[in-house]
Amino acid sequence: MILLVTKKMIEYFDKDIKRINHALKVYGFATCLASNEIISDEKLFILNISAILHDIGIKEAEKKYGSNSGHYQEIEGPAVASWLLRDLNIEKPILDRILFLIGNHHSYNKIDAMDFQVLVEADFLVNFFEDNMQLSAIEKIQKNIFKTKTGISMVESMYLG
Ligand SMILES: [Fe+2]
Repeated sequence: MILLVTKKMIEYFDKDIKRINHALKVYGFATCLASNEIISDEKLFILNISAILHDIGIKEAEKKYGSNSGHYQEIEGPAVASWLLRDLNIEKPILDRILFLIGNHHSYNKIDAMDFQVLVEADFLVNFFEDNMQLSAIEKIQKNIFKTKTGISMVESMYLG
């Protein structure tokens, strides 16, 4: 299933290598962070699919609003993800959670469980580099948003200290 969803994401992003790489990097970090947290197989599945598809709304956001801001990605993402996942027979509560994570992954005040927390941390671990963020901003985010031991120590090893 993960391979299938990854292939669908790659086809959908259609030669947009930067976004394809971004999705796979976030998926990689999410898997690492999750392995050290108490997270059920079901939640791990939700996290993996959400990580691969988390920014899938970006193309529609650009098309409709001329913006790739997080807010518009959140608005457009769930419909695109639901279309890509339509034939995969994913149970409704699981699909709903995947779509919720995609639709809220920039809304840090809504983090309500470990799958959401890990997705946000994985996205930051990649974006710190891709967005060339200042160390002071990285430090602030580590302090205010990161919760997992692995995530905090990865920020430390990769960017701080
Ligand atoms: Fe992202």
